[in-house]
Amino acid sequence: MIETGEFDFESRLVSPQVIAEDSEIDYSLRPKTLSEYIGQTKVKENMAVYIEAAKKRGEPLDHVLLYGPPGLGKTTLSGIIAHEMGVNIRVTSGPAIEKKGDLASLLTSLQPGDVLFIDEIHRLSHAIEEVLYPALEDLAIDIIIGNGPAARSIRIDLPKFTLIGATTRSGQLSAPLRDRFGIIQRLELYSTEDLAEIITRSAVILGVALDRDAAVEMASRSRGTPRIANRFLKRVRDYADVMGDGRITRDIAKIALDRMEVDDLGLDSLDKRMLLTIIKGYGGGPVGLETLASAIGEESVTLEDVCEPFLMQLGFLARTPRGRCATDLAYRHFGLKRSGDDDGGQTSLL
Ligand code: ADE
Repeated sequence: MIETGEFDFESRLVSPQVIAEDSEIDYSLRPKTLSEYIGQTKVKENMAVYIEAAKKRGEPLDHVLLYGPPGLGKTTLSGIIAHEMGVNIRVTSGPAIEKKGDLASLLTSLQPGDVLFIDEIHRLSHAIEEVLYPALEDLAIDIIIGNGPAARSIRIDLPKFTLIGATTRSGQLSAPLRDRFGIIQRLELYSTEDLAEIITRSAVILGVALDRDAAVEMASRSRGTPRIANRFLKRVRDYADVMGDGRITRDIAKIALDRMEVDDLGLDSLDKRMLLTIIKGYGGGPVGLETLASAIGEESVTLEDVCEPFLMQLGFLARTPRGRCATDLAYRHFGLKRSGDDDGGQTSLL
């Protein structure tokens, strides 16, 4: 979990974070091979080369860092990498590794070549990082046995393994940790076409009849995020079952998504609040992130991780050295004019 403060992700249907109702769909819909994985072409092409080369040499894959906004399939991709390498994957996360012993027992249970996946790796404590470095560098860990004067340190050798770290915030990773990854890949928000393809693939797996234009309608509101697209599919299926004959048509998708208060671009109330605060409270910006967060009553990490990547992809938000600015496109989306644009007045409705 990212530090989300008071923000209630459970109630936010467009949250890219995992929410309770994702669990069932998440596993059945996850692609198992690179060829099944839609989008992220650059990452896929690069990883295919690195995997093939490692396999040819009969070596484990170099350590991999995957970074990018939440919900884009970093865990899924790690599972695929392990599958393509023909090895097991152990999955954990930065906050879950509380004690040195937690990491030691994970590391000592690995088989040669296995993948250790650490989600939210930027949240590993400094003490745990200190255990990880010799594990990565020397393939060994030092464990202290006993207490007081009788304590002694023993060195345990580890098999060669691949660490895959995932993070939404590569900037927060300590430099020494970051330097230990030979492969660093950035995942991008997905295009509407890719998301429509993902929704179509998921509908086939779930056995749901789906019109092409309905897939595009859902995709275009999914804020570039497969996790949200698959969540919409599940919810819209309910509407199709109750209001129609089970087939998801564009009309049913529109009605369902409108009722869920997701607008036609995928903006929800928090996105809108953020943009309208910049526009109405700060003359369109620039305004500093912390100032903005406290004006909205929200954690700055939530704005940064959840709202900003999507608003920037839409071209609604610009990050400048002096702060955040709403763009002309954002003004137009809300039917507003910049103050002094030509009516010489305040921000006003067009
Ligand atoms: N489900 C979630 N992400 C996916 C992807 N990139 N390709 C196919 N199915 C997915």
